[in-house]
Amino acid sequence: MEKIFAATLDKARKTTELSKEDIKTLLAAGEKESQALFQYADKVRAKYMGKEVHLRGIIEFSNYCKQNCHYCGLRYDNKKLKRYKLSYEEIYAAAKSAVQLGYRTLVLQGGEDNHYSPGDFAELIKDIKKLDVAITISFGEHDYATYKLWREAGADRYLIKHETADPVLYTQIRPGKTLEERLQCQSWLKELGYQLGSGCMVGLPGQTLDTLADDLLLLKKMDVDMAGIGPFIPHPDTPLAWGEQGTLEMTLKMVAVARIIMPLIHLPSTTALGTIHPRGREMALAAGANVVMPNVSPTEFRELYQIYPNKICLNDTPGHCRNCISGKIAALGRTVSNDYGHSPKFKGGR
Ligand code: 5AD
Ligand code: SF4
Ligand code: FES
Repeated sequence: MEKIFAATLDKARKTTELSKEDIKTLLAAGEKESQALFQYADKVRAKYMGKEVHLRGIIEFSNYCKQNCHYCGLRYDNKKLKRYKLSYEEIYAAAKSAVQLGYRTLVLQGGEDNHYSPGDFAELIKDIKKLDVAITISFGEHDYATYKLWREAGADRYLIKHETADPVLYTQIRPGKTLEERLQCQSWLKELGYQLGSGCMVGLPGQTLDTLADDLLLLKKMDVDMAGIGPFIPHPDTPLAWGEQGTLEMTLKMVAVARIIMPLIHLPSTTALGTIHPRGREMALAAGANVVMPNVSPTEFRELYQIYPNKICLNDTPGHCRNCISGKIAALGRTVSNDYGHSPKFKGGR
């Protein structure tokens, strides 16, 4: 096993075109081999993306959601959750303070709902753009015309994870939805000139090593600009409450292999990793990741945006998180970028 691993890592040093079997071999790495994998991914990150870490401030603008994803605490059927929706003014104020804290990218994230009309949301994008920031939208599935409207309003990027590349598992855990529809949204977004963010969860019940390799191959096939890879964390008020949490080790291996086969993508060290291990985010930054997405939502609403339980930073302010994360980045010998952090693959229009 060790021999096959070493040969595969050697192959990875020569080509980014790894087969599914190669990827599975890397993902099956034991403890010792994993260290070699992480070290190599870190080297690739340093070579292609440099030592700068990009910070993206997330504004969680609403926890209303019409979908019923089996893994997510915001699902429609979770009647225990108190719902909130920030007003246009509150979102704008959060954006303004984040910009004052030095953020150059803001992520507008919300559950899928119809509480903001596409036109109103476009106006908000236009106003926030005037603050001189890059905007990522993370607001689920919409029709082509809506995506077009928001792109024209100035949105730069869209984050819509494929969640799992197994089409059967996908429909099981996202009732009424198909992987095909998801990928259609991703294709539209690319066609419209958005920088595309995708990603998946690691450790979903029913997921196998085979599926995880498919996740990475799908990211590569979709030519994504960013991939958010985080552990599945069971939420008590969801149908998957019984599931086991995804592991730190497998998530780090997924991040590392993603870096190795896609040297030029942005790879966040996810908040979910920071939730399952106190040094999870630092470990991902040392295994290929180059982005962190701190929360810049008003503290009072954070508790209500628990997609998964015990999310970190629930009682912290945007200013506190900014200092906290900058300290962690400096301690790793890295620096916080002060540019927009656009995709290096993106040359203004595809
Ligand atoms: N554990 C980990 N990640 C989750 N997400 C949703 N629910 C969970 C969970 N229980 C992730 C999904 C989604 C993003 C908003 O949060 O990947 O895309
Ligand atoms: Fe809604 Fe997104 Fe949660 Fe699914 S994952 S229930 S679409 S917020
Ligand atoms: Fe929020 Fe550390 S990033 S407290």
